[in-house]
Amino acid sequence: MLANNCRVNPCEADMDGRIFLGLDLSTQQLKAAVVDNALQIVHQATVIFDTDLPEFRTHNGAIIDKTEPGHIAAPTIMWVKALDMLLDRLTVAGVDFSKIAAVSGSAQQHGSVYWQKGASKTLNSLDPNQFLHLQLATSFSVPNGPIWMDSSTTEQCKQLEKAVGGPKKLAEITGSRAYERFTGSQIAKVHQTKPDAYKNTERISLVSSFLCSLFLGGVAPIDISDGSGMNLMDIHTKQWDKALLEACAPNLAQKLGDPVPSYANVGPITNYYTERYNFSPQCRVVACTGDNPASLIGMRLNEGWVAVSLGTSDTVFLWLSEPKVVLDGHVLCNPVDKDAYMALLCFKNGSLTRERIKQQCCEGSWSIFDQLLNSTPRGNFGNMGLYFDVQEILPFLQGDFRFNKSGRVGKFTSLEVEVRAVIEGQFIAKRAYAEDFGFKFGHGSKILATGGASVNKSILQVLADVFNSPVYIQEAANSAMLGAAYQAKHGLLAGSSTYTEITSSLPEPELACQPYGDADEVYAPMVQRYRSIIQELTKN
Ligand code: ADP
Ligand code: XUL
Repeated sequence: MLANNCRVNPCEADMDGRIFLGLDLSTQQLKAAVVDNALQIVHQATVIFDTDLPEFRTHNGAIIDKTEPGHIAAPTIMWVKALDMLLDRLTVAGVDFSKIAAVSGSAQQHGSVYWQKGASKTLNSLDPNQFLHLQLATSFSVPNGPIWMDSSTTEQCKQLEKAVGGPKKLAEITGSRAYERFTGSQIAKVHQTKPDAYKNTERISLVSSFLCSLFLGGVAPIDISDGSGMNLMDIHTKQWDKALLEACAPNLAQKLGDPVPSYANVGPITNYYTERYNFSPQCRVVACTGDNPASLIGMRLNEGWVAVSLGTSDTVFLWLSEPKVVLDGHVLCNPVDKDAYMALLCFKNGSLTRERIKQQCCEGSWSIFDQLLNSTPRGNFGNMGLYFDVQEILPFLQGDFRFNKSGRVGKFTSLEVEVRAVIEGQFIAKRAYAEDFGFKFGHGSKILATGGASVNKSILQVLADVFNSPVYIQEAANSAMLGAAYQAKHGLLAGSSTYTEITSSLPEPELACQPYGDADEVYAPMVQRYRSIIQELTKN
């Protein structure tokens, strides 16, 4: 039975000695990991945009257009050139490309790529003797496409919400109310402000499906998980919503193509790679997805777990079996189970805000920060602080807000209170928004912490207490990149093995902290207090 199935679909028994390639095209860099059949990393390479490709003059991978407030873009051709460099670096590292059974990728979400008329033909007939960037130099009708940091589309957001009957209705259909960085409003703006470029656009890709296209030798389909970050897809039917497409721009269905499940095996690698790098003609390309869905894959998250990533900005994501309608946060289609969903919460003020308080209160030292944090009790004597150095997404506020037992105050009475306040305030907010998705903490819930600040045990203890849940850590270099490599294998074997079976050989996460017995007594009321404070602060 198994043997028959193996003849139709590749299966585990065929994978001996095979390797898998996963890429991550993030805001600042393009990275790749090659994993063996046991999913262990055997090679890695990185191209950093600002320093490896200085000719594009990006700052942290982006171009801030000073003439247009909120407009932030990146040169598409820079990403193509980065792939040329990355493949050369993998060659120098000694990767035997002929053993790669499948390739997949992850990319920053929401950004868009505009393929010029004729680009599909160019992609389909790439010359293996030349770099990709030389051949695709004129293939983009909008050379600098908008990326997720762009916030210039408030007008178009209003138009999209109006087209379906308001923010709640839009969230019901697409999983999110209109957000400036989401691709629907971005495409609408291109159509309104650059009508000729839009007319000359043959196809539109997300950054993830663009990356996939470079391996496929044709414009790749958008996957349902990254596709749910566009405000255009009905997350229930997994199809584009006609009214939204029409409200956005003409002939959009044709320019986007039909979405596919995130683990779809979309075709063989194009002969550019077989001839230039000696890839096997049997090597398959698996759909690429967004970095947050790819992280969910890389962390092997499933029901009951909440991932908290404490990086430059903080993100929280959870596995959802049913979609919820929320106005704060996003519901995306799940990248490993096409019938499930995931919740995504983004907080712009993460590590950089924690660092600011460390500078102000702890002479710039994490060890002093830890001492002060550990010298204050859970609940911080009834003090609460909310710190938003830059305009926050959740809640939509900027500035410092400090409260003692009786009300708002200008400053706290000690440095240690300030230190505990920043950590508790950030985590209480995360719990409040996660609860809005129907998540109940303290009943078997488990937290998986990642990102730069997850090395800090004192911070993780507060995380365990605020969420009244044990906190685990996982030694994962870059969960999005690993997620892409795992997805390459999953996509290839999806007909014969489940995702859980494929990743079962990986080590379990390690327990870092347990909550104290009084944690919920202290923090459940603080979450309620946080909600009232935010309601008051965001009244207008
Ligand atoms: P990115 O989101 O850019 O990938 P990282 O996940 O690498 O960022 O996180 C970087 C952040 O980690 C730094 O900005 C720093 O504030 C934080 N960090 C590093 N070490 C510690 C520590 N010991 N305690 C708390 N935060 C830390
Ligand atoms: C998610 C988001 C960011 C980007 C960063 O909604 O905007 O996390 O995906 O790469």
